[in-house]
Amino acid sequence: MIKINENYLKLQAGYLFPEIGRRVSEFAENNPDADIIKLGIGDVTEPLCPAVIKAMHDAVDEMATSEGFHGYGPEQGYEFLTEAILANDFAPRGVKLDKSEIFISDGSKCDTGNIQEIFGLDNIVAVTDPVYPVYVDTNVMAGRTSNATEGGRYGGIVYMPCTAENNFVPELPSESVDMIYLCYPNNPTGATATKDQLKKWVDYARENKALILFDAAYEAFISDPNIPHSIYEIDGAEEVAIEFRSFSKTAGFTGTRCAFTVVPKALKAYTKAGEAIDVNAIWNRRHSTKFNGCSYITQKGAAAVYTPEGKEQIRNTINLYMDNASRIRKALTELGYNVYGGQNAPYVWLQAPEGMKSWEFFDAVLNKAHVVGTPGAGFGAAGEGYFRLSAFNKPEIVDEAMKRFAKI
Ligand code: MLT
Repeated sequence: MIKINENYLKLQAGYLFPEIGRRVSEFAENNPDADIIKLGIGDVTEPLCPAVIKAMHDAVDEMATSEGFHGYGPEQGYEFLTEAILANDFAPRGVKLDKSEIFISDGSKCDTGNIQEIFGLDNIVAVTDPVYPVYVDTNVMAGRTSNATEGGRYGGIVYMPCTAENNFVPELPSESVDMIYLCYPNNPTGATATKDQLKKWVDYARENKALILFDAAYEAFISDPNIPHSIYEIDGAEEVAIEFRSFSKTAGFTGTRCAFTVVPKALKAYTKAGEAIDVNAIWNRRHSTKFNGCSYITQKGAAAVYTPEGKEQIRNTINLYMDNASRIRKALTELGYNVYGGQNAPYVWLQAPEGMKSWEFFDAVLNKAHVVGTPGAGFGAAGEGYFRLSAFNKPEIVDEAMKRFAKI
């Protein structure tokens, strides 16, 4: 008799974004004339930039020739891309990494979800609350948790509340934890972490032989020069942290799929007997067993992001989204909402009117303004009463959404 992995039965409801999609489709069916504006899932709206398109077209032409054809590539990614990453994303910030420490993949969602596989099931996982749901759900699937409690939290996970009081950066936990997921600039709150705040975590991880899983998918949206873009800007972080980066939001690759994960060679994890194991070698083994590489055409496109034209073109698009964020902040502040984020991240996090729960506010905004956002409670118990708006849309659509908010 075939047995199911019962850990999957512990998962609550559907994954957040499909659940929102379901509710929106239902609303659209019942209100066929409603012009719905989507500021829910953080999906980009601007086309790939000309430098990327040209590089991809050229790569397609190469693939049409015997000499230029590429079959399986290196699972870890082509050197032309890993070298461009090191030279542009890290070296200018004083971060020294080797190309063997970069693993190109088809997305940070997969990487942040898959990484836990190489660590023991007895590790204690710590996540911020609210949190990007992938970190939690993949640990539930793996069996690191017990069932969810009534408040929606899983036993066995340490939740670190992020609220306006701590500027959405968690305190060090009082219990001992082994795998710590941090995401800055943060999804969903749009908060950033300073060097001093990150240093506390790096110091904690070094003292406790713990691991930081640092999701930096939104680093390109940082405009404040004092905010670090990489955890490796903190001394010693290469001994305790894995970093996730993505071309999805930075360069419009949500549909094209390209990302990378940094696993430094200095990073160790331990056997039960206390032997230090090289995490880079284990991830390399896992990656090359389960992944056959991101396509040549896609990686050529990603490398073009680092050309002078590519850099300028993606910067213009990022500026467009961040202008949206700033107009959302302004409009909502004028309407009297408490508003956070949206300054170094493409997400604005707002408090629903007093006494209103996140999903109630979601329904009210959808019904009255025909605008879709993301209910804060979908990201965790501490997100209850909050609501997230994504800045990824056309400026005129964002302005229309804000006009409609005024009428709620
Ligand atoms: C979000 O809306 O939080 C993101 O688009 C989800 C993702 O990047 O997977």
